[in-house]
Amino acid sequence: MSEKFSVMISAEEVAKRIRELAGEISRDYRGKTIHMICVLKGGVYFMTALSNGISEDVPVTLDFMSVSSYGNDTKSSGVVRIVKDLDEPLEGKDVLVVEDIIDSGRTLSYLLDILRTRKPASLKLCTLLDKPSRRVVDVNIDYTGFEIEDRFVLGCGMDYMQKYRNLPYIGVVE
Ligand code: IMP
Ligand code: MG
Repeated sequence: MSEKFSVMISAEEVAKRIRELAGEISRDYRGKTIHMICVLKGGVYFMTALSNGISEDVPVTLDFMSVSSYGNDTKSSGVVRIVKDLDEPLEGKDVLVVEDIIDSGRTLSYLLDILRTRKPASLKLCTLLDKPSRRVVDVNIDYTGFEIEDRFVLGCGMDYMQKYRNLPYIGVVE
């Protein structure tokens, strides 16, 4: 392969942390149905792993949304638009947005504002990774897998020029 990268968080550590998060979320949502919203494409690997770990007495429903804030670049363009909207209404549902990484916060702050207007019973955010040092817009994160320093990462759904989303570990571009 042409790009050089190394392992920041191993596949085992990622899987273990996702199981812990799923346990915590299962306890918090006891008696409810979790309506998970996957932010495509990056959130898809995390959402499937996370939802697999949710206790079977807590039902999960899924929907997908795609917003774009990045071109094929490693820096934010600052432009956010809805590329694919949800299929289902959110009214009265306990919504959990599942995202790969919160960087500047622009994407999620914009998205959560839109979702809030659709009157969910509750609206929470779960992210696999958080890069707090990069925040430009404040976002309230309910569940975080790992806080990381300001490095460009890939794998676990995250891409580098649309590639390497499938890697089971968090890699860092050298
Ligand atoms: P934000 O709007 O700046 O918070 O950007 C969030 C989105 O940018 C994430 O959902 C990712 O798709 C992408 N992104 C941010 N940082 C990285 C990174 O280090 N690697 C891969 N994608 C990233
Ligand atoms: Mg994303």
